[in-house]
Amino acid sequence: MKLLVTGCAGFIGSNFVYYYLRKYKDSFIVGLDKLTYAGNLENLSKLTEEEKQRFVFIRGDINNNELLNHIFEKYNIDVVVNFAAESHVDRSIFEPHVFIKTNVLGVQSLLSVAMEHWFRGDKWLEGKRFIQISTDEVYGSLGPEGYFTENTPLDPHSPYSASKAGGDLIAKAYYDTFKMPVIITRCSNNYGPYQFPEKLIPLMIWNALNHKELPVYGDGKNIRDWLYVEDHCKAIDLVIEKGKIGEVYNIGGHNERENIYVVKKIIEVLRRKTGDDKINEDLIKFVKDRPGHDRRYAMDPTKIQTELGWKHTYSFEEGLEITIDWYLNNLDWVRNTISGEYLKFYEKNYLGR
Ligand code: NAD
Ligand code: DAU
Repeated sequence: MKLLVTGCAGFIGSNFVYYYLRKYKDSFIVGLDKLTYAGNLENLSKLTEEEKQRFVFIRGDINNNELLNHIFEKYNIDVVVNFAAESHVDRSIFEPHVFIKTNVLGVQSLLSVAMEHWFRGDKWLEGKRFIQISTDEVYGSLGPEGYFTENTPLDPHSPYSASKAGGDLIAKAYYDTFKMPVIITRCSNNYGPYQFPEKLIPLMIWNALNHKELPVYGDGKNIRDWLYVEDHCKAIDLVIEKGKIGEVYNIGGHNERENIYVVKKIIEVLRRKTGDDKINEDLIKFVKDRPGHDRRYAMDPTKIQTELGWKHTYSFEEGLEITIDWYLNNLDWVRNTISGEYLKFYEKNYLGR
């Protein structure tokens, strides 16, 4: 099986490349990534020599049809897994156009080039799959009760989630109109190794280790439904293998936690592991809320559980221990990742919130 994995140098993309190459010894992955501030080839540096024989990296943009055509021609791609995206909600508030370009127009480019290569005469070639990786944020925000199902109407609130909803709808349109073999997955908040330290969990780990303030937005009672990244990779693997074309699958592990709980837990685990008493709750600072901040996300994963046999394996507390160990063992990775372009953006837009 030959996969085109876009966004392969980002957080989930790189975890998926490791997961897939290690599980399927006869698989071959073409990894495409533009290497924005969030993409980092260091994320793929742990591939073994054998795995490198089954992986090729191409630096490029999913909007570049000429490059995409070249990839499809040269590698005879069976499956596209589209992770490539601008992924950070706060950034989408500062520069929405970048999000529309990649998360909407980029998806359309990928779909159109895949269609050119997979639709022959009047039918689709056998075994092809286009997996659009999406998010629970397209459903909007929940009150204290209830869950998002695949039938929940889309109601995105941030430029990020609106752009992801746009990508989903164009992907759905390719199925509805052309019967293209598209499947959409929508996942809750991921965490784990290689997550860029702008997102809640790695940012709090890094700031706490450096005795810096831990900025909690609003009252800290917003709820996210946390999923360890390996569980997400397993779900995508099952969707590639057994997912039904034209369907949407929600992915989530019933690990709803308030942000303030997450931050306090990070402090507790870090202090235990490092013995550093300066890592304590005095570091917490409640700051101005994120505009349009969704209150609660919670996924109903019944469909992927009953139809494909997926179930999450890690509780939030188990996954957090592993994640914190990984960051403690990879502090140079964090330093490298947040230097350069990202740091300038962060200093300009975030400091002094
Ligand atoms: P990330 O920001 O860590 O990685 C995104 C990658 O895409 C980066 O390597 C970046 O360089 C690349 N990229 C950006 N624009 C590109 C372009 N135009 N062409 C090619 N490559 C480009 O993001 P992530 O957290 O790994 O998220 C991956 C996907 O999963 C995204 O589609 C995101 O919407 C979705 N998702 C993420 C989460 C989460 O909690 N992280 C949850 C649900 C869904
Ligand atoms: O739900 C899935 C989504 O999860 C993905 O689609 C996105 O790509 C991913 O970035 C993530 O979005 P969130 O906005 O939920 O993640 P983030 O880590 O930015 O924030 C998590 C919660 O923590 C959110 O309620 C905002 C809050 N927060 C975040 C940061 C960075 C803080 O209180 N302080 C912070 O400094």
